[in-house]
Amino acid sequence: MFSISVIFLFIILLLLCAWTIYIIVQLILLLVSFKQDVPYVPLSRSSLRTIIRSQLLDNRHTIVDLGCGTGTILAALTKHYPDAKLIGVEKNAWVVRAAKLRCLFWRRKPTIMQGDMFDYSLQHVDAVVGFWVTDVMKSLLEKCAKECKKECIIIAAVVHEKFNPPDHLAFEKKLLPNTKKVWVYTRIPQS
Ligand SMILES: C[S@@+](CC[C@H](N)C(=O)[O-])C[C@H]1O[C@@H](n2cnc3c(N)ncnc32)[C@H](O)[C@@H]1O
Repeated sequence: MFSISVIFLFIILLLLCAWTIYIIVQLILLLVSFKQDVPYVPLSRSSLRTIIRSQLLDNRHTIVDLGCGTGTILAALTKHYPDAKLIGVEKNAWVVRAAKLRCLFWRRKPTIMQGDMFDYSLQHVDAVVGFWVTDVMKSLLEKCAKECKKECIIIAAVVHEKFNPPDHLAFEKKLLPNTKKVWVYTRIPQS
């Protein structure tokens, strides 16, 4: 009886330690990226669930997460789309290290690249995902309009419900059902 309680206590302590380390790492990454245009903040579980449930990424061969952070979106995608080619682009070297460490033991590893997302060519991708702020979204939509194939979709998560992401002449914008934080941009067919 005694040994079972000790093991139980040990497991609880271990979980607490792991959780504390996780929180400390998240805080450090937030601090090292704080001065950037878009700091490191992981996407919420509910937004991730919304993206997966939308099935918009089903049958998309190449999916890129622009500003992939530590790979929160990529982790969900790799689980649900094991055959997709997943790419993450991240500017902050510390965040890239954390992302590479995180996916070290995943069965299917995404390609994590350190660099500026504005320099990454989108010509070959079937879907662009990300969690951005207004100014970045405006510039990204310009980039997507120039580079993306016409079937490519852009799934943009935003920080809070009242935030209305920018419009773009080339895209139709829709909020995903059951959320006020995940938007989808699809090309308006040119006549
Ligand atoms: C709001 S976080 C989103 C992280 C991740 N996509 C997620 O949802 O969990 C935005 C990330 O974009 C990165 N970032 C900001 N500007 C960037 C740029 N120009 N090129 C690549 N990454 C950038 C930041 O370092 C940060 O990790």
